[in-house]
Amino acid sequence: MEVIAHRGNTFYTPENTMASFLSAATYPVDGIELDVQWTKDGVPVVFHDEKIDRTTNGSGWLRSFTYKELRQFDAGSWFAERFRGEKIPSLEEVLEWMKENHLTLHMEIKKPPKKFEVLLDPTLHLIDEYGLSKRTVVSTFHHPVLTYMAQEAKEYFQRAFLTKTPLFRGIRYANAIQAHAIHIRHSYQAMQFYPLWAKSGIPVRAYTINREKEALRCKRLNVTSIITDDPKTMTSLFK
Ligand code: G3P
Ligand code: CA
Repeated sequence: MEVIAHRGNTFYTPENTMASFLSAATYPVDGIELDVQWTKDGVPVVFHDEKIDRTTNGSGWLRSFTYKELRQFDAGSWFAERFRGEKIPSLEEVLEWMKENHLTLHMEIKKPPKKFEVLLDPTLHLIDEYGLSKRTVVSTFHHPVLTYMAQEAKEYFQRAFLTKTPLFRGIRYANAIQAHAIHIRHSYQAMQFYPLWAKSGIPVRAYTINREKEALRCKRLNVTSIITDDPKTMTSLFK
């Protein structure tokens, strides 16, 4: 069973920060999941919400700030005083660190702007420049991004569609949009589909699995990977 650290070591550190990724990597995880959005001046940064209010000391829409402006905010002290000074990382900062390890990068593209290509293309190019495209999985709820990537012959990136509910014809759908994997919110309903999908050979990654009982259930049902806020507990179970 693969263990993927959701936004880093989210239970113990401020999500989507370098502190969180470094902390997650002290456990034998297989990969790191993070969220990517673009600043007003087109810099890809690692951040979950559309607004910066919950996880920084600032306020407003992430997209309304330039990269330089965003770096003024503190992304650690909301979680605990000892993390004061953490910044919103640029994707490049994470790639710089990733090239020194062997982890898989699960990059979720958050709600993209209408003309996402002009931002997505240089971002993928950047990952490629760092030599990381072969161990990057691009996932998103915005499936036109995946279709675009497939059409534009971005073959060297793995692509996964994200879904909150199981699709009855999940495999057929994955084939239609040329996705390599299904990333799904874990639920009782989703569990009914895991064995069928596993049989077809498509990787199935379930989020967000934080309870041991659920993790063991996923394993029994042949889920490929769990995406968790608690890499410490989950790696102790499976590694
Ligand atoms: O990768 C799955 C998961 O991260 C999707 O939901 O809201 O945690 O980004 P969210
Ligand atoms: Ca995510």
